[in-house]
Amino acid sequence: MTTTQDPVAAAEQCTAEFRRNPHPVYASLRDTAPVCPMKPPHGLETYLITRYEDARAALSDPRLSKDMYGAVDSYRRIFGDSSVSLDDNMLNADAPKHTRLRKLVNAEFTPRRVEALRPKIQDVVDELLDACPTREPVDLLPAFAFPLPITVICELLGVPPEERPHMQRLSTTVAQTGFSKESKQAQQKAELDLHAYFTQLIARKREHPSDDLLSALTEVHDKDGGLTENELVSTAFLLMFAGHKTTAYLIGNSVHHFLANPAQLRAVQENPELVGTAVEELLRYDGSVESATFRFATEDVEIGGTRIPKGALVQISLLSANRDPRKFDCPDEFDITRQGAQNGHLGFGHGSHYCLGAPLARLEMQLALTSLFSRFPKLAPADPAAEPKWMEVPFPAFRGLAELPVVLDPA
Ligand code: HEM
Repeated sequence: MTTTQDPVAAAEQCTAEFRRNPHPVYASLRDTAPVCPMKPPHGLETYLITRYEDARAALSDPRLSKDMYGAVDSYRRIFGDSSVSLDDNMLNADAPKHTRLRKLVNAEFTPRRVEALRPKIQDVVDELLDACPTREPVDLLPAFAFPLPITVICELLGVPPEERPHMQRLSTTVAQTGFSKESKQAQQKAELDLHAYFTQLIARKREHPSDDLLSALTEVHDKDGGLTENELVSTAFLLMFAGHKTTAYLIGNSVHHFLANPAQLRAVQENPELVGTAVEELLRYDGSVESATFRFATEDVEIGGTRIPKGALVQISLLSANRDPRKFDCPDEFDITRQGAQNGHLGFGHGSHYCLGAPLARLEMQLALTSLFSRFPKLAPADPAAEPKWMEVPFPAFRGLAELPVVLDPA
């Protein structure tokens, strides 16, 4: 695989060509600069890791800290600096704090709780698909891919239906990655509002507990003080943030790749039991977390023969690692029967921060794709000649489409 672009510049600047198809750039980086110094627009000294073995090792390397907000002052100034903190959660913590928070949430976010959501998820899938026009083009991102995971997370946490649009607007603003003064101000205001919203919701759960995850976590806080009030608020935010865009983009990427590979689509339609391995392959082939895996070096660290200096930001490209031919046979082939060691993908990360919501994400993906493909066997792109439009971001963090126009049931 070759590229006409300077791979480092393409990745740093997130050029339009890179957004359309980052894989040739990553192939070039893996061969020529597998641990690559970069200067992304946020200006922090950054190293990008692109090979599978290096990525896997880095994801569980205790010298690479997740506690960037506490330790790197410049990180807070660039990515957000507010009087309240929604970042006081496990994703931004190292052991022992990480271990404590993860254990507490794990004890409540059980397989039973996830499985209990199955009928609700199926209802949401059915309702969203019922509401779509079938003969005219519909953009499946706003109509299906985005509302599904946020509705499910709201069900999980116990956010009342009438409050969901407000909360969703705030969290979208908090999660934006713009670096302008205006966008940072909007972000900080939304962060304050969201903090206030969750604080108030927790107070209501305390008064009227029900069978939801936030009530359960509030009880843990109140009974044995296992987590602070701010950790509780930040954990609610984390679950919402971590489970929304990631799942939504993966649904979009999945539908896009199935439509571009009709033989694979036919295979999963004829053998719906393949949906489980199909979801794993989609996480490998074009997963939604590109390199939103920020860590910083607490000391000089050597990875893949390159010295990463103390204090540098490290991004691990899961997208690139998952296409590394040193690990996967024919990595650029989309093959929904790939499994076992041939699909030891890193789409959900690796090590102690491995995605806590992976069982829920898998369930949502499987129900979404199964229903979509069985209800609409003739599903087609609205304009088969149109180039897909990928979301533009200032630096590679998430991978997802900007739109997904399809016709569900063409005449
Ligand atoms: C962590 C991917 C869905 C909750 C992570 C990480 C990845 C990831 C790569 C590790 C980040 C790192 O090491 O820096 C994904 C993908 C998803 C998805 C691709 C969908 C397809 C979800 C859902 C939830 C969730 C649905 C929960 C509602 C979390 C949490 C963490 C996490 C809480 C932090 C775990 C920790 O720090 O110990 N996810 N995720 N994720 N994810 Fe997910």
